[in-house]
Amino acid sequence: MAANPQFLKYVDDHQDDYIKRLSDAVAIASVSGNLSYVKDVEAMGEYLVQQLTALGATVEKRGIGKHTLEGKEVDLPPVIIGQVGNDPKKKTLLVYGHYDVQPALKEDGWLYPPFELTPDPKGSGKLYGRGATDDKGPVLGWINVLEAHKNLGIELPVNLKMCFEGMEENGSVNLDKFIESEKDKFFSGVDCMCISDNYWLDTKTPCLTYGLRGINYYEIKINGPDRDLHSGVFGGTVHEPMTDLIALMSKLVTPTGEILIPGVKEMIAPLTDDEKAKFEAIHFSMSDIHGAVGGDVTISNDTVKTLMGRMRNPSLSLHGIEGAFSAPGSKTVIPCQVKGKFSIRLVPNLTVAGVTEHVVKYVKEEFAKLGSKNTCDVYLTHGGEPWIADPNHYSYRAAHKATEAVYGQTPDYTREGGSIPVTLDFANILNLNVLLLPVGRGDDGAHSTNEKIDTSNYINGTKLLGSYMYELAAISKD
Ligand code: BES
Ligand code: MN
Ligand code: MN
Repeated sequence: MAANPQFLKYVDDHQDDYIKRLSDAVAIASVSGNLSYVKDVEAMGEYLVQQLTALGATVEKRGIGKHTLEGKEVDLPPVIIGQVGNDPKKKTLLVYGHYDVQPALKEDGWLYPPFELTPDPKGSGKLYGRGATDDKGPVLGWINVLEAHKNLGIELPVNLKMCFEGMEENGSVNLDKFIESEKDKFFSGVDCMCISDNYWLDTKTPCLTYGLRGINYYEIKINGPDRDLHSGVFGGTVHEPMTDLIALMSKLVTPTGEILIPGVKEMIAPLTDDEKAKFEAIHFSMSDIHGAVGGDVTISNDTVKTLMGRMRNPSLSLHGIEGAFSAPGSKTVIPCQVKGKFSIRLVPNLTVAGVTEHVVKYVKEEFAKLGSKNTCDVYLTHGGEPWIADPNHYSYRAAHKATEAVYGQTPDYTREGGSIPVTLDFANILNLNVLLLPVGRGDDGAHSTNEKIDTSNYINGTKLLGSYMYELAAISKD
């Protein structure tokens, strides 16, 4: 069933209101996992409560416990749950999004203040601001749909349940327990689920996403002397923690991305012909990725290899070293304790536990080979399993039709390199098909400087989320 034309017209006529809403939301610096922004995250949760309540939803703010931030115990950001409609004749759709964002400072290289939504003065329609695409724009897309229906006095075609969290960027602590505890309460009666928290692959082809990589995040901690030392006095006489750590980190991955930990590659599920064909069908050119990263620095020049490198193969990235000297200038110090951080993106059949076993064994063995008297500890800080859904499910068919209706294009079927660990929790605990229906484009720059969403994606994205509800309402379940 095509979307109500009044709804589509309302969206076109209210673009400025919708942009204002995004601007209000971006202005709340809801950076999770950072003590100085705890109040802002709370304020963003409250903002959603206000908006949803005003639009007639039944809303609750739920505490999900405490956690320690920079040594201080604080409440976790609340989960906001809301519901509109409870008609047994309609399907019930669950949507999830996150209202927290990654940190951003103007001096990181932003063109404009990151927490002031700024339209490109050149008139391209790009709206710059932290969270514009990850994930405030998409979350507000659902709210925009509600506003249109409320103001037009038309009912939603489905019952809508919403779950918005404020800790996604920091591992969704306790959300799994919340889903478990509300399984037969708030989450009961849900038919299927939609998450809009990823992006098109390129800048012009809408897509439906049926897979996500998982992620294991590790630290290697090397302890040496009990204080930092002068390298002139002690260099050449002690085992240096940084030297040990660099030796170990250099043995994890090659510059061409090959993972050197024995046993990991062997766990990758064999590639089927059907799977390969799906990757070959995706609209993608090397210039898309070169544009998204700002240069030709890709490992391969083959599109299918590049797509598979992102979507169906594991990758290991080195992120940083805590305790290493990193300020400008030259300080002749031997740091006494350093922590090397790296992560491995997981794909079927890599598991959090299986990969961790190989990582710990290998790092310990390699450390032993160094002959150092320092101590080495290697451990997982957080893990999330990979996720794959059935793209032939009726929810995907509904989204396919909605995409064709809004964009006049056939969507690509993609898997994502990034991770939304809670996707798997929703799928498994609630036994649901989950659809990822992105709003933003591949060059939006989530987590990066100058994150943006294009006005057309935000506005058409609102139409898409609404149209998906109409198609879902009409589609046969078999
Ligand atoms: N929206 C992203 C997930 C994502 C990233 C989807 C890239 C598609 C492409 C989400 O907000 C995110 O940043 N996830 C983290 C998860 C981590 C903190 C456990 C990620 O992927 O690094
Ligand atoms: Mn996100
Ligand atoms: Mn993110």
